[in-house]
Amino acid sequence: MTTLPILNQALIELGEQDFVNFADVACQLIGDAKNETELQALRVDLQGKKSPIAALSKQLGGLDADGKKVYGAYLHELRTRIGVAFDERKETLAAEALNAKLADEQVDISLPARGMTTGGLHPITHVTERMKQFFVQAGFCAVTGPEVESDYYNFEALNIPEHHPARAMHDTFYFDAHHLLRTHTSGVQIRTMQSSEPPLRIICPGRVYRCDSDQTHSPMFHQMEGLMISKSSNFAELKGVIHEFLNAFFGKEMTVRFRPSFFPFTEPSAEVDILSEHGDWLEVLGCGMVHPQVLRNCGINPDEHSGFAFGMGIERFAMLYYGVNDLRLFFQNDLRFLKQFA
Ligand code: PHE
Repeated sequence: MTTLPILNQALIELGEQDFVNFADVACQLIGDAKNETELQALRVDLQGKKSPIAALSKQLGGLDADGKKVYGAYLHELRTRIGVAFDERKETLAAEALNAKLADEQVDISLPARGMTTGGLHPITHVTERMKQFFVQAGFCAVTGPEVESDYYNFEALNIPEHHPARAMHDTFYFDAHHLLRTHTSGVQIRTMQSSEPPLRIICPGRVYRCDSDQTHSPMFHQMEGLMISKSSNFAELKGVIHEFLNAFFGKEMTVRFRPSFFPFTEPSAEVDILSEHGDWLEVLGCGMVHPQVLRNCGINPDEHSGFAFGMGIERFAMLYYGVNDLRLFFQNDLRFLKQFA
């Protein structure tokens, strides 16, 4: 290893060449420093208070004006060369360190990819969207409403007064005597009829609640109800819309049966069955012509306007569409199940 030449003579005994030699060797040592620690040690040796240069600088004061000028210039040149050498070496070391780090962090692109998992829509959302698609194309608007309802909107306005046996059919979750979790989205239709002028074409998708739980019932489920009010709506139109919807939803021509039924808010009322591949009739929705009293409750004159309504369970359609036999699977959030629909 090179060592610094001794520079401990008196200042005036030194010639220019001594300074140049000293600077050459110092710069070489600096250039050879392998890391910041070595560089720091050299800084102490060459620029520190006890360095030969510091000692020589102190002697400057004792020289005459010419001596000060000459030796001052030598020392200045020496300090400058050393300073530049330190700066350069520092920069080089930093660049080397960065390159080493970058080389170290290189990504091994030969590794097989880990794969990306993307989220997906819940099957109930898929089916809701599929239903909406048909009705929106047919000019229906999707409308939503509150899930905590008053008994007026959930029952009374729909022709289900207190003590009406239909209330018992709904297995309602009550908060108090007059507030409940809606058992169907029909309250949204009442709200819409009261706040807008006919003609109306709406669908009401949303969560509904009934105190019921087994393989085909869950205390919370989803409904898509619909309502159309105009001056000329009739049962034939209702049948047409429903049949077209079922064809569109299942993507094939369906065999459909309208079976007479009863709902307090529609008259006449029907339940709709589809013929399964195994030859069984499966009930899929309820519908009917809006009861004149319900129209009156909403300020619509039944002599001028008529309308039809329908309501279906989205889970039921999802079960039929995907061939799922247990409704509870939709709500267990088991990713093995959900991933099949994403
Ligand atoms: N609201 C009814 C229910 O939830 C469904 C329905 C809607 C039936 C419209 C007929 C007409 O049971």
